[in-house]
Amino acid sequence: TGRQDIDLKDYIRHIPDFPKPGILFYDISTLMRNPDAWQIAMGRLTRQIAPLQPDLLAAVESRGFLTAAPIADRMGCGMLMLRKSGKLPGQTIAHTYDLEYGSDTLEIQADAVKPGQRVVVMDDLLATGGTLAASIALLRKAGAEVVGASVLVELTGLGGRDKLDTTVTSLLSYED
Ligand code: PRP
Ligand code: MG
Repeated sequence: TGRQDIDLKDYIRHIPDFPKPGILFYDISTLMRNPDAWQIAMGRLTRQIAPLQPDLLAAVESRGFLTAAPIADRMGCGMLMLRKSGKLPGQTIAHTYDLEYGSDTLEIQADAVKPGQRVVVMDDLLATGGTLAASIALLRKAGAEVVGASVLVELTGLGGRDKLDTTVTSLLSYED
C-alpha cells in the first residue's frame, strides 16, 4: 500500500469532554504532527478547492490559518485573515454573530478584497456553521464574491452546511 492509501481519519484524535463536558473534540494536532499525513491532507484539500478558481483564500482565526496558508501556497493564490476583534490594523469591517451563550465578532481589513474578487473561505472544522456563516456575511460586506467554503473536518450531525449559502466542501466527515 502506498502513501496515497493513508486513511486520514486514523490521524484525527477524539478527546471527550473538551472544552466542556459532553463535547467531543476533533483534534487535528495529531494529523499535523505526521508529515506524510499532513502533506496528503493539504494536497487533497487543494484538489477539492482548485476547481472553484479563487483569487483569494479567506482564513478564519485561528485554526483556519493552519489549513489556508499551505493551500494558498500550493494554488498560487493570495490569502486574507478574518480575525477576532481588535487584532487587525487600519480600517476594518466587523460582523457580530450569536453563539450558544453570548456573541462573538470577526473583522476583515476594509481593503482586503477588490470588488467581485472570488474568495473561498477556509476553516479547520464545520460544526454548527455559526463561524462560517458569519465569515461569509463579513466577506460579502467587504465586497467579495464568495465562491465556496472549505473545511478539513465536517460534523454533519449539526446541520452546519445548511446555514451556508455557498458551495461547501469537506475532506473528512463524521456523523456524530
Ligand atoms: C472552532 C473551529 C471552528 C469553529 C467551528 O473554533 O476551529 O472555527 O469552532 O464551530 P461552529 O461551526 O459551531 O461555528 P474556535 O472558536 O474554538 O476557535 P479557534 O479556531 O481559535 O481554536
Ligand atoms: Mg476556529
